[in-house]
Amino acid sequence: MMAISLTWGIVVVVCCCLWLFLGIRRRKMGEPPLENGLIPYVGCALQFGANPLEFIRSNQRKHGHVFTCKLMGKYVHFFTNPLSYHKVLCHGKHFDWRKFHFTTSAKVFGHRSLDPSDGHTTENINKTFIKTLQGDALNALTGAMMENLLLVMRPSTLPKPNTAAWVTEGMYSFCYRVMFEAGYLTLFGKDLTRQDSQRALMLSNLDNFKEFDKIFPALVAGLPIHVFKAAHNAREKLAEDLRSENLRRRDRVSDLVSMRMLLNDQLSTFDDAEKAKTHLVVLWASQANTIPATFWSLFQTIRSPEAMKAAIEEVNKTLENAGQKISFEGNPVCLNQMQLNDMPVLDSIIKESLRLSSASLNIRAAKEDFTLQIEEGSFNIRKDDFIAFYPQLMHFDAQIYPDPLTFKYDRFLDESGKAKTNFYSNGHRLKYYYMPFGSGATICPGRLFAVHEIKQFLILMLSYFELGLVESDVQCPPLDQSRAGLGILPPSHDVEFKYKFKYL
Ligand code: HEM
Ligand SMILES: *[C@@H]1O[C@H](CO)[C@@H](O)[C@H](O)[C@H]1NC(C)=O
Ligand SMILES: *[C@@H]1O[C@H](CO)[C@@H](O)[C@H](O)[C@H]1NC(C)=O
Repeated sequence: MMAISLTWGIVVVVCCCLWLFLGIRRRKMGEPPLENGLIPYVGCALQFGANPLEFIRSNQRKHGHVFTCKLMGKYVHFFTNPLSYHKVLCHGKHFDWRKFHFTTSAKVFGHRSLDPSDGHTTENINKTFIKTLQGDALNALTGAMMENLLLVMRPSTLPKPNTAAWVTEGMYSFCYRVMFEAGYLTLFGKDLTRQDSQRALMLSNLDNFKEFDKIFPALVAGLPIHVFKAAHNAREKLAEDLRSENLRRRDRVSDLVSMRMLLNDQLSTFDDAEKAKTHLVVLWASQANTIPATFWSLFQTIRSPEAMKAAIEEVNKTLENAGQKISFEGNPVCLNQMQLNDMPVLDSIIKESLRLSSASLNIRAAKEDFTLQIEEGSFNIRKDDFIAFYPQLMHFDAQIYPDPLTFKYDRFLDESGKAKTNFYSNGHRLKYYYMPFGSGATICPGRLFAVHEIKQFLILMLSYFELGLVESDVQCPPLDQSRAGLGILPPSHDVEFKYKFKYL
């Protein structure tokens, strides 16, 4: 008996060793330097997860600008020289741009794949997004967002102007509730049949969104949602409100959502619950980055007297040129796209805030074996490997952005006060120097709307309120690194601020 178990024991150990040995990839001629990591399957994922920026920097020091890391069974080729980004992107015909997105989305939100090649839908979702978030569609979205921001910011938060007193609140939680509610109403409209319970519904959506979003990094890393009972519940409840029968009761649903409803019905084999989850994807994409981005834009503005002054001047000028007057009873502020686009100071503040807080990982899959040619050399890439940029490395590069960790509100302004677009690395002008929204064919389709939303929020904050920090010399809160790779990082703790309605 002993002998048999011993023999089996040895067989198992030998098999494991063989599996480990064979499972480890060997670098072939012409491939980038390879880091397999110490742990089978996991590879370097733990070091990467603990501090992506430091991990990539140390590999860059060791291997140069191009190297490969094993991360959770996948081989990821990092390209870290911003000067070669555009050359890498020129190989687009070899990339499956969306495979990673489609797989992740299905896993996290719990619908079947949205990839037409998997056969559950024939919708070209990229086309839907671009058509309903850009061009003419953006006018309607922006207009609705302004009304909803006013709705959320004016009545509930404000006492009568003549009795106005300072209100103190966490700035992140303020931005969260204002942007979530206004953004939700803008995309999904208002439920006219349940006016009285609208507010309660929104608050429960807000709580559920926070609960679900909290475990988002774990879901992307591959943990099943069943491990997280509360978050699972929260996701199902959020999706429940986005089922067709509920959306049909809502008024002024955005083009984006109504077109997706139509195409879900016409082109997919999804059931009602899955259709709702595809709307949840849109809710998450529209909120998860916008909320922290709004926080950083407001926080940096309030904390920097020069930024505040320049921003208020620009808002004043813009409102004046548009013939608008801010008042408590008067007409709500309304600025068209052209007027919003002509605000270089706010643009620069928002860009600089996102430069400092963005930590997205841009990933695409190799469709086939191919050779990637850039200035640094030629690199053989195998089918199903991934190609990745981590733009934070560039955003924090002192050569491109001197004194990179300091907020400079006018960093993206040129001498004449217009948008600055010439940034250099090693004396060469960069084509890509600012990438919080990704790059290439998967660049965020909502980026124009996102910047408009944040701008509208700032315009209203600066014109309706007097603003201040509770502690005037408050430190900048650190970035919450647990979400590195996903986009804009939130602050790791909140900052108290105070606001008071201006006597207008
Ligand atoms: C500051 C705010 C935002 C940031 C930083 C941001 C950033 C990003 C990034 C990095 C991606 C992935 C791009 C890639 O993989 O290369 C993305 C995708 C996406 N974003 Fe945004 N985003 C923001 C706001 C918005 C808003 C307001 C919407 C509006 C609905 C939106 C809709 C989407 C959608 C639908 C996708 C998926 C695109 C696809 O896979 O085809 N985003 N975003
Ligand atoms: C902006 O306009 C308000 C009222 O119109 C005025 O009180 C304020 O001084 C102006 N601020 C700047 C910086 O021009
Ligand atoms: C999405 O559509 C745009 C515009 O038609 C195109 O440039 C881009 O390559 C498309 N992206 C993907 C991933 O298909």
